[in-house]
Amino acid sequence: MSELKIYSESGGMNPLRHYTVYSQIRDALHDIGVRFERWETRAEKLLPGVDEEVVLDLYRDQMEKLMAEEGYKAFDAISVGPDHPDKEALRKQFLREHTHPDEEVRFFVEGRGLFTLHHNNLVYDVLCEAGDVLIIPPGARHWFDMGNNPEVITIRLFNNPDGWVAHYTGSPIADHFSRFVN
Ligand SMILES: [Fe+2]
Repeated sequence: MSELKIYSESGGMNPLRHYTVYSQIRDALHDIGVRFERWETRAEKLLPGVDEEVVLDLYRDQMEKLMAEEGYKAFDAISVGPDHPDKEALRKQFLREHTHPDEEVRFFVEGRGLFTLHHNNLVYDVLCEAGDVLIIPPGARHWFDMGNNPEVITIRLFNNPDGWVAHYTGSPIADHFSRFVN
């Protein structure tokens, strides 16, 4: 089940607010300029860790339609399973607070992951599962945790054909919020 927990940026294990109902998650994220949506996933089951070309082939028609409608210029896929040889390095790379000059669109097609936004003095942990979509505005601080035993496939859509450029903030805050246990 998808959920949103909102914490003080100073840490602490107890969330200030906790939502599990889709409309409440959507509205709380809307307040900070983030769109939370649900998109249709394919009936074909994909195992996290499957070759990314397989993911792209399965979703190509749906993504091309979206690009035509919304003006996105490119898309790619990230597929990481528990046997991924670089899973620790990848986890560390994603667990660094950063921003992008462009919108970030992330569509979860299989598995789960914890996507975190840092807005003003608050930290928004969004536990995402298949079908969830986050659309993050330019400049929003964020990071992603896929845990020690990653099982996640996401598709990313780009406004910029070169993909997103990540600007790392240098803040260690994500170290205190790497809480995704799987
Ligand atoms: Fe990002």
